[in-house]
Amino acid sequence: MPVKIAPSVLAADFLRLGAELRAVEAAGADRIHVDVMDGRFVPNLSLGLPLVEAIRRGTTLPVEAHLMIAEPERYAEAFAKAGADTLIVHQENSPHLDRTIGLVHGLGKKAGVALNPSTPATALAEVLAELDLVLVMTVNPGFGGQRFIARMVDKIGQVRAALDQVSPRAELEVDGGIDPESAPRVVAAGARVLVAGTAVFGHPGGPGAGIAALLAAAGG
Ligand code: DX5
Ligand code: ZN
Repeated sequence: MPVKIAPSVLAADFLRLGAELRAVEAAGADRIHVDVMDGRFVPNLSLGLPLVEAIRRGTTLPVEAHLMIAEPERYAEAFAKAGADTLIVHQENSPHLDRTIGLVHGLGKKAGVALNPSTPATALAEVLAELDLVLVMTVNPGFGGQRFIARMVDKIGQVRAALDQVSPRAELEVDGGIDPESAPRVVAAGARVLVAGTAVFGHPGGPGAGIAALLAAAGG
């Protein structure tokens, strides 16, 4: 399976967001990753519904909303209406995960669940078969530009093996500190969708060069 790149617009230049979206689209990005933070579930505030609406108008690529917010089920419909194709909630912010996944599917959207670094792969065992995507966080969520946590490589392998048992077509995505050095390690462990903010939008040669460097390193 080819490696897919999901640029995280958190690291984009918001003054030039349309041009940034066109650049990653031209460079072969697979989808746009939008980091939604509420200052409660994570210690930072970031983007919300108006940005998802604008991004929806600015690209033909699928948009995924990474909901790092308390009670994400309260906002699922709003993000779906704003134009997100995939809604990613966290295992840690969703005590009624099975219900939330059903809610997302009922909205006609793909459902993903993210795992913080401290959450074991086994935490998803009972819902794995229902998921379109699992997102293994390779940093503690809340900020871009953090250092890759190498211990997560084992967990990526565990999640992929578990998915292969019940849902081989489900995607395994990673997020945080992904660059040309960490990319081949996560791909070797089974990740096929790489979220990258700094390595794409912060690349000195521009976002197209950032995506090319990631794909070259990851063998995609
Ligand atoms: C972190 C976010 C990430 C972040 C990744 O909480 O979920 O998507 O933007 O940024 P980099 O690629 O810079 O680590
Ligand atoms: Zn993210």
